[in-house]
Amino acid sequence: MNTLLTCSIPLLFSSLVWSGYLEYDQNVLIPDDWTHAGRVDPTEELQLTFALKQENTDLLEALLMLVSDPVSSLYGKHLTLDEVSFLVRPSKLTQKVVHHWLQSHGITNCMTVHTQDFLQCNMTAAVAEMLLPGSKFNRYIRDGHSLVRSSAPYSVHDDVHEHLDFVGGLHRLPPKGQDISKASYNGEKKQSETGVHLGVTPAILRARYNLTATDVGTAQNNSQAVAQFLEQYYNPADLAEFMGMYGRSFKHLSQVERVVGTQGAGKAGLEASLDVEYIMSTGANISTWVFTNPGRHESQEPFLQWMVLLSNMSDLPWVHTISYGDDEDSLSTAYMMRINAEFMKAGVRGISLLFASGDSGAGCRHLGKENSFRPSFPASSPYVTTVGGTSFKNPFKVTYEVTDYISGGGFSNVFKMPDYQASAVDGYLKTVAATLPPRAYFNTSGRAYPDIAALSDNYWVVINRVPVPWVSGTSASTPVVGGMLSLINDQRLLAGLPPLGFLNPRLYKLKGQAMFDVTEGCHLSCLDEQVQGKGFCAAPSWDPVTGWGTPNYPELLAALLVE
Ligand SMILES: *[C@@H]1O[C@H](CO)[C@@H](O)[C@H](O)[C@H]1NC(C)=O
Ligand SMILES: *[C@@H]1O[C@H](CO)[C@@H](O)[C@H](O)[C@H]1NC(C)=O
Ligand SMILES: *[C@@H]1O[C@H](CO)[C@@H](O)[C@H](O)[C@H]1NC(C)=O
Ligand SMILES: *[C@@H]1O[C@H](CO)[C@@H](O)[C@H](O)[C@H]1NC(C)=O
Ligand SMILES: *[C@@H]1O[C@H](CO)[C@@H](O)[C@H](O)[C@H]1NC(C)=O
Ligand SMILES: *[C@@H]1O[C@H](CO)[C@@H](O)[C@H](O)[C@H]1NC(C)=O
Repeated sequence: MNTLLTCSIPLLFSSLVWSGYLEYDQNVLIPDDWTHAGRVDPTEELQLTFALKQENTDLLEALLMLVSDPVSSLYGKHLTLDEVSFLVRPSKLTQKVVHHWLQSHGITNCMTVHTQDFLQCNMTAAVAEMLLPGSKFNRYIRDGHSLVRSSAPYSVHDDVHEHLDFVGGLHRLPPKGQDISKASYNGEKKQSETGVHLGVTPAILRARYNLTATDVGTAQNNSQAVAQFLEQYYNPADLAEFMGMYGRSFKHLSQVERVVGTQGAGKAGLEASLDVEYIMSTGANISTWVFTNPGRHESQEPFLQWMVLLSNMSDLPWVHTISYGDDEDSLSTAYMMRINAEFMKAGVRGISLLFASGDSGAGCRHLGKENSFRPSFPASSPYVTTVGGTSFKNPFKVTYEVTDYISGGGFSNVFKMPDYQASAVDGYLKTVAATLPPRAYFNTSGRAYPDIAALSDNYWVVINRVPVPWVSGTSASTPVVGGMLSLINDQRLLAGLPPLGFLNPRLYKLKGQAMFDVTEGCHLSCLDEQVQGKGFCAAPSWDPVTGWGTPNYPELLAALLVE
């Protein structure tokens, strides 16, 4: 009798639990650079984020495509946050079931958002582990920062399974400081014999992309934002000094309009300084916001926090540039699908989201003996604009641009190719058919990226009051493109037109018009015998290394200033 009981209960339990995994394909391993600091005390308070199933996501996608397609009569007819809320907010049943489930565990301490599709709730670790069978909360430490994550996958009760997309705060880790910091001060890199180095500054960028001194923002209500999720902050004194040194030839602002989140103490971060200094150099004289880690709690996912925040703010900048990415294969499909819905929610409101394409070229995933390229998310999302990187052909002159070998690009293994890019990608695959890497390395049915590019090599950045050369990465090119889109939005607003919103459907219709096509160079990938470190190569027209190329501002403005 006894044995029967102890045997059958776990069996029954495990089948229930198995069916309750929302994120069965989420990587739950904690990388070695995090040190385990023990189990979390059961009485400690955690904050978890519940992503409630939305309604009408198909309609949301259809609407996004309509308001973003210049040929549609709905082009530019963006929705307000209220309207988005009306469209996607979870059904009464979903809300009731989820609330009841939480309440039955004594969880009443929840905040919701305007769209009612996220709940953020505080509870003790003991309650969280009861609520989410399988979860085991531990503390981990890296570089003096500690966080709380579950060392094992969580499940949810069968009753709520169909009402939730995922629960945030258990698995995904904050991004690591990008390669960008390593690239800095790499003194021996690309030094000419004479030691002369040009380096990218605002004046160089403005010259290359044909921005004149009068190409600055003038519209009252225009604004732009950078978001970053590393444990770092930008220093207002650095920005002021940067603008003092490099901003003499154009009217600009030297202060950030608004910081959303908490600015850390200590030293400024390279990434944060870079983003702010450069979006305010191309998007000159445009009010700029910085989104930074919002009131960080050890159990929060910073990127998710930002997404939640967007659903709770009705007044947002029109352009956001974001330097954040994870390997697609490390994230659950449920999470990526839901984050995609969040991107659609932003796009349908007329907000442009620009993501860096990554700094590892095509990437590399080692699976036993077989290698394949490794796409990165959100760069691989069909609902964002992804920005790759270039270098000057001659690093000592303002010449034409070639591929920056680090420029992230490739094909998603998760999202199918959106219609807007099908013919462009098809054209590329045909043009370069003879020289493509082996087909086993990539998936041509997937969303291909990047969409656009800009210089990403050898930037000057002021950090901790010191001008630093050699800073490189697609986190540099992304705010540069963002600032230029903001300038175009500025002219559109002045002309009484709606902002650009989700750019891709319109960008691909230009078929490379108004862009400097990048046709030289390849990016990096797996260091194996088959591909020998080479990923894709740039080619005439669109390519998965530099997209359509880099913007020729006056022509792009002209092309995007109609309707
Ligand atoms: C969203 O904003 C409302 C009020 O503006 C606030 O009460 C609520 O706590 C916010 N939600 C979250 C998750 O921060
Ligand atoms: C939940 O915890 C967070 C972080 O500790 C805190 O900022 C927040 O005020 C708490 N929320 C409520 C509703 O108590
Ligand atoms: C823009 O820049 C390119 C190359 O730097 C140049 O050839 C072109 O004439 C410039 N002007 C316009 C309006 O495109
Ligand atoms: C800068 O922008 C403000 C509006 O924010 C505008 O009033 C002003 O004229 C702009 N400056 C220049 C030089 O265009
Ligand atoms: C700017 O925004 C404010 C409030 O958000 C509004 O009252 C004002 O009319 C707007 N100005 C312009 C030029 O659109
Ligand atoms: C290829 O991409 C599609 C999405 O377009 C996906 O459904 C499929 O699983 C991918 N194949 C592999 C082998 O990853």
